[in-house]
This record gives sequence, structure tokens and C-alpha cells, in this order.
Amino acid sequence: MADHAPSVAMEAVLKPSCELPIDMQKIRGYDFNQGVDLHAVLKSYISTGFQASSMALAIQEINLMIEKRLEPVEEGEGNESDEHRSKSGCTIFLGYTSNLISSGVRESIRYLVEHKMVDVIVTTAGGVEEDFIKCLAPTYLGEFSLSGKELRLRGINRLGNLLVPNDNYCKFEDWLMPILDQMLLEQNTEGTRWTPSKMIHRLGKEINNTDSVYYWAYKNNIPVFSPALTDGSLGDMLYFHSFKNPGLVLDIVEDIRRLNSQAVFAKRTGMIILGGGLVKHHICNANLMRNGAEHAVFVNTGQEFDGSDSGARPDEAISWGKIKTDATPVKVYADASLVFPLIVAETFALHADKLTAGKKTD
Ligand SMILES: NC(=O)c1ccc[n+]([C@@H]2O[C@H](COP(=O)([O-])OP(=O)(O)OC[C@H]3O[C@@H](n4cnc5c(N)ncnc54)[C@H](O)[C@@H]3O)[C@@H](O)[C@H]2O)c1
Repeated sequence: MADHAPSVAMEAVLKPSCELPIDMQKIRGYDFNQGVDLHAVLKSYISTGFQASSMALAIQEINLMIEKRLEPVEEGEGNESDEHRSKSGCTIFLGYTSNLISSGVRESIRYLVEHKMVDVIVTTAGGVEEDFIKCLAPTYLGEFSLSGKELRLRGINRLGNLLVPNDNYCKFEDWLMPILDQMLLEQNTEGTRWTPSKMIHRLGKEINNTDSVYYWAYKNNIPVFSPALTDGSLGDMLYFHSFKNPGLVLDIVEDIRRLNSQAVFAKRTGMIILGGGLVKHHICNANLMRNGAEHAVFVNTGQEFDGSDSGARPDEAISWGKIKTDATPVKVYADASLVFPLIVAETFALHADKLTAGKKTD
């Protein structure tokens, strides 16, 4: 037997390293000997690794948006002379998929809208109607494993592990139909040209409920864009209404001009996009009109190997001119229901005093 291990193995296993930069982040997590301090736990995420570090970077990026948002907008800085201008130093676009309004993430979103912490919203049809329906009747916690057949027999709809009784949609119809009649009347007698954003603004006024995201969007004049507004219960209702009282028209062209103007005439922009699909692309595409957003945070579970826009990393959006080439965008691979309330806690809610100073909700 030889006295020494084979040199090829020794060299392979004990290969020397080059020097790493002295300021490189060292991995170290939270020490619970310091007590239970959730703020400190979240602070330790930057040095924890994996998606904990990505979430910490997202928090940094959003805090940068907030810092820029608080900078004054000088005369001639991009956003003058346009009716859609924002007076904030960084116009923040918030996008989220429908299911997040069905979930309790709705309350984090409502907080941001109530306190005018974001400027422009994009969501899908379910993200609009589920907010109003929750004002009429609750959504419940169920289980992912409940049988579809049994639920159908009982008139209960399942959305992940959430349950929505079908009666909720009947209540929604009772609430919505008279409003659609009135909108049609205004279209025919006053020449009102309805768009999805104008319709959501009107519904926010009509719901008159402080639990609602869109009540606050109406109060604070924050535009909500939803170009596929017919792809949900709202579409079902518009379909039924088209037989009962035909003629209502929604113009999506006026809305695309209004949305893109929010990006074009802003001093800087930041995108916070929860989930993928329409909401992700619609906000990114609006920001192409200014040759890219300065800041971006994506939180989603999408993967890029299938070439989907939902799964595309921010770097792909840079190639299209939707995020600026010198930006430091972040993608967090996570369920937004888990991370978004924590992100809000470490950003908008933490800086609420500065963000709301001098702002008054009418
Ligand atoms: N409550 C509902 O989900 C609901 C209700 C009515 C209508 N709809 C309609 O269904 C259509 C598709 O819905 P959509 O475009 O809002 O999104 P979606 O549910 O199709 O999700 C799009 C992508 O977003 C990501 N994503 C979704 N949920 C996430 C989460 N919790 N955390 C992280 N990433 C997440 C995933 O990558 C997903 O593939 C829309 O037209 C919508 O109006 C949905």
C-alpha cells in the first residue's frame, strides 16, 4: 500500500482559491439568541442566501424607488405639459395577478393605494371584481385537495386553497347590473366614452367601502388599467347585460394612450410586478415607451426555460428596452402571498411617515 494519497486526487480536492474581494457579503443568518425580532430577521436575509437574499435585494430596490419618489420634480423634468403627469420623483407602477386580490395580499395592496404610495395599477379582471365581491360577501380558507366534483354540487368555487361561494357572484350581479344600466345611459345621453380604467374608477366610487382597493384608487385618483377586463365575472356580467340592455362600449385604445403616457412623461419609473402574464407585460411594455424603467422588482414563480414572458428574468426585459441598461432589477422566485406583506413591512410601511407627509386623502 502506498503511504500517500494519489497526487491527482490531492490536487483536485485541495486546489487553492484565488483571493475574493474583501467587501464580499459573508453568509450568516439570524441568531435567535438575540430574541424574536422580525425586523432584524428580515435584515439578516441579505446574508442568508437563496431567495432570502433576493427578497432583501428587492427591499433595497423598492427603498431606492421610495427615496427617488420623495425627490422634488423640477420644472421641465420630463413630466410637464401632459394631463397624465405625476408629481412624484419616481412614478411607481404596481401590477398583480387576480388571485392576489382573492388572497389576503389584497389588504397590503389596499394599504399602498389608500396612502397614495403607488401611482399606476395594472391587474386582470379577477383582480378587479374579487375586490368588489369581497365587499359583498367573504372568501374562505379551504384546502387545495377538496374535490372539484363535490364542490360543484355544493355551488362552491375553489381558487387554490380559497373557497368562494357561487352566491357571491349572484350578489355581484345584483350590485353591478343597475350600475351598467346607468353607465349605458350616460354613454347614450352625455356622450361618455367608457374605458376599462374609467369603469373601474366608477365602480370604486359606487362600492363606497374603505375595505376596497378600488374605492381608494377612486378617492386618490390612481388609475387602474385592465385591458382584458372581460376575462372574468365582469365579462360574464357584460355578456348578460348585452342581451338585457345592449350597447355599452369599452374603449381600450384610450386606455393604452393613458397608461403609456404615465411612463413617457414620468421623471423616473419603478415597476413592482407580482405574478406574470398580462400584468407583467403590460407594465413593462408601457415602460418601453420611455426606453426602460429605472427600477424593477418582479416577484413570481415563473421559469424561463419555456420562453414565457411570465418566467422571463429582468435581463430579458433589458434586451427589449423595457428596463434601463444601467438599472439593478431584482427577481424574487416566490409565492407573492408569502413575501409581499414582508416586503411592504420593510419598505412602504417603514417609510410611511415620509411618504404620506403633506398628502391628504379627500
Ligand atoms: N382569482 C383569479 O385568479 C381569477 C378570477 C377571475 C378571472 N381570472 C382570470 O384568469 C386570467 C389569468 O389570471 P392572471 O393573468 O391574473 O394570472 P395567472 O393566475 O394566470 O398567473 C400568471 C402567472 O403569474 C405567476 N403567479 C401567479 N400567482 C402567483 C403568486 N401567488 N406568486 C408568484 N407568482 C404568481 C405564475 O407564474 C403564473 O403562471 C385573467 O384573465 C384573470 O382575469 C382569474
